[in-house]
Amino acid sequence: METTRKIALITGANRGLGLEIARQLGQRHYMVLLGARNAEAGRAAAAQLIAEGIEAECLVLDVTQADDVAQAVATVGSTYGKLDVLVNNAVFFSRDNQAASQIPTALLQQYLTTNFVAPVAVTQAFLPLLHQSAAGRIVNMSTSIGSLTTMGETIHTTPRMAAAVPLGYSSSKAALNMFTTLLAKELRTTPIKVNSADPGRTQTDMGGPEAPNTVEYGAKVAVWLACLDEDGPTGGFFSYQHVSSW
Ligand SMILES: NC(=O)c1ccc[n+]([C@@H]2O[C@H](COP(=O)([O-])OP(=O)(O)OC[C@H]3O[C@@H](n4cnc5c(N)ncnc54)[C@H](OP(=O)(O)O)[C@@H]3O)[C@@H](O)[C@H]2O)c1
Repeated sequence: METTRKIALITGANRGLGLEIARQLGQRHYMVLLGARNAEAGRAAAAQLIAEGIEAECLVLDVTQADDVAQAVATVGSTYGKLDVLVNNAVFFSRDNQAASQIPTALLQQYLTTNFVAPVAVTQAFLPLLHQSAAGRIVNMSTSIGSLTTMGETIHTTPRMAAAVPLGYSSSKAALNMFTTLLAKELRTTPIKVNSADPGRTQTDMGGPEAPNTVEYGAKVAVWLACLDEDGPTGGFFSYQHVSSW
């Protein structure tokens, strides 16, 4: 069984920030497991990284499917016996109207299912393998518009922007941030560190081509948190090299 290499699993890694986080961890000599709900897309992404000299494999993983999660845990457990890094990156995002006064509850449910309940379930399932690592790291991909502090201030400073903030997406990430703080507290006496990362608006399918950050830059905060040494923080919310407001 493989134990010496560091093993990282990134969910939703067939494109966007997930793929770039995998690339940058691979460049740091992690064996990267690219979680992808579509096997073909996941294999194509892994092949792209392998062609760049990175050790990568596709792991079929729809984060909302309990069977996929159980199978992924079994595969990682039997192949590597541990997991060093888990990046909860997969995201549901739609351009439908998400105004707080109007969002359909079914749509709200979909946000919470993929962006909050699923990363909690995936993390719980992989915790035994993260405990097998000498320095387990969990990174939850969040956003500044999941910050209650920032959104509370926005109401007074830029009310038009506040009205445009999507309730489904923002509330799912605020809930994910709460998971970060509570899990970090629970694991504080273990080597495992749990942090939330805000990549900033990034040029992906979700962020759009007009976003200010390149994917290379957007991925950096997650990679930094994934590679923290034992003196690094836990239970925090960070953008690259900055503390973010909860
Ligand atoms: N881009 C930004 O401006 C920005 C800003 C702040 C925070 N973030 C955060 O950064 C993370 C990555 O965002 P991104 O911009 O890279 O998004 P993206 O380009 O839209 O990619 C989303 C990824 O999630 C996957 N996914 C969706 N539902 C899934 C499921 N049920 N199971 C497994 N995978 C699933 C998608 O797979 P398919 O290809 O199969 O659809 C895709 O690989 C997200 O957590 C997001 O909230 C992004």
